[in-house]
Amino acid sequence: MSSRTVIRGGLVITASDEMHADVLIEDGRIAALAASGTPAAEAWTAERTIDATGKYVIPGGVDAHTHMELPFGGTFASDTFETGTRAAAWGGTTTIIDFAVQSVGHSLREGLDAWHAKAGGNCAIDYGFHMIVSDVNQETLKEMDLLVEEGVTSFKQFMAYPGVFYSDDGQILRAMQRSAENGGLIMMHAENGIAIDVLVEQALARGETDPRYHGEVRKALLEAEATHRAIKLAQVAGAPLYVVHVSAMEAVAELARARDEGLNVFGETCPQYLFLSTDNLAEPDFEGAKYVCSTPLRPKEHQAQLWKGLRTNDLQVVSTDHCPFCFVGQKELGRGDFSKIPNGLPGVENRMDLLHQAVVDGHISRRRWIEIACATPARMFGLYPKKGTIAPGADADVVIYDPQAEQVMSAVTHHMNVDYSAYEGKQTTGRVETVLSRGELVITEREYTGHAGHGVYTPRSTCQYLN
Ligand code: URP
Ligand code: ZN
Ligand code: ZN
Ligand code: ZN
Repeated sequence: MSSRTVIRGGLVITASDEMHADVLIEDGRIAALAASGTPAAEAWTAERTIDATGKYVIPGGVDAHTHMELPFGGTFASDTFETGTRAAAWGGTTTIIDFAVQSVGHSLREGLDAWHAKAGGNCAIDYGFHMIVSDVNQETLKEMDLLVEEGVTSFKQFMAYPGVFYSDDGQILRAMQRSAENGGLIMMHAENGIAIDVLVEQALARGETDPRYHGEVRKALLEAEATHRAIKLAQVAGAPLYVVHVSAMEAVAELARARDEGLNVFGETCPQYLFLSTDNLAEPDFEGAKYVCSTPLRPKEHQAQLWKGLRTNDLQVVSTDHCPFCFVGQKELGRGDFSKIPNGLPGVENRMDLLHQAVVDGHISRRRWIEIACATPARMFGLYPKKGTIAPGADADVVIYDPQAEQVMSAVTHHMNVDYSAYEGKQTTGRVETVLSRGELVITEREYTGHAGHGVYTPRSTCQYLN
């Protein structure tokens, strides 16, 4: 028996269009759109009608960069797949792509199996995986082909964190050459970790132990240098490249130059780099630890260049890099030594609202909001048009968004399993009202009506965004 829902009277916004339309959902998919008030739309009957008058009807957000339960810095990211995906839904995100981790000395398969075990049966929304490649060798390279075939089509490598996730240039080149053959996309953490470790050691020797020194040693120039090197290695390999969590304007310039040359080089930034700065890292009484992530927050003047990059399409995606650690007991591991503060910020619940605020503030248009938060991440990682748009045949992952509602971000009211908000007290205009995932109500007029296990693993095709 088919189940039908109709969403009436809202402004449907996709990356390409805005139209006052009714949306018909049947068996978990978008069945049709028709201009509101027309006979075609009025003729639809359905078991459930959602009134979206005065609201936006947008695709569910696609957050292409999360780290639920990541083991890192001697502890684990504090959101499980259950708590983190529930929080994502509250924030209007209906798909996450999380990073499975290959531990050094182990296979990609073991890492992927471990992440399937963590996520399976626990997610409120759909999920996919990228694979962190920490140990490039002949076996790993062969395994990359197999993973691409089964829907894990992107691989993260690290030029940072020597001794943990780090790959040297030779390992990076080999993985890029492989991805050039198998259609995979290399995602690069672009910071010169070898040089940064020297600066960390020197800073600590000078007694510079506060969180703000995290931002000082992880220099913008060392992000730009690594970005440049990654681009050149990708060019030599003939492979596309996606640079994650870009924060430095000098790195944006490297991406822009490469794109002007016509290279398949792409950049992601995150809300923390658009809305927070080194001023937060410098907050007294160790509060700055709340803002320790890598790449680090930058001085405010970088923000304008990130917004510009998003407008000019030199940056294509905004993901969260959601990697929460509680202040009490986790961030505190780095009291007296900033290098021991677990790296990462919470944000999976905040992204869609912060980017809507960017619309209100005039940084981007409404359609660009949907493009950078839904459509392009879906295209970049092989989920489009199943995810990332509202069109016949797409999964009915739909958010009813109230563009007028006011809210104040706070740890008291958020749903992420972390004891602080990086945006505590920030007032924003716009709020998620109702969320459907494959036609099922996950959030209903600001009540959680979803359940763990609704979300399913979603294999991906290869990148659909190449030039
Ligand atoms: O600080 C961060 N970004 N933590 C998560 C791991 C990573 O590098 O993405
Ligand atoms: Zn990273
Ligand atoms: Zn990350
Ligand atoms: Zn369900």
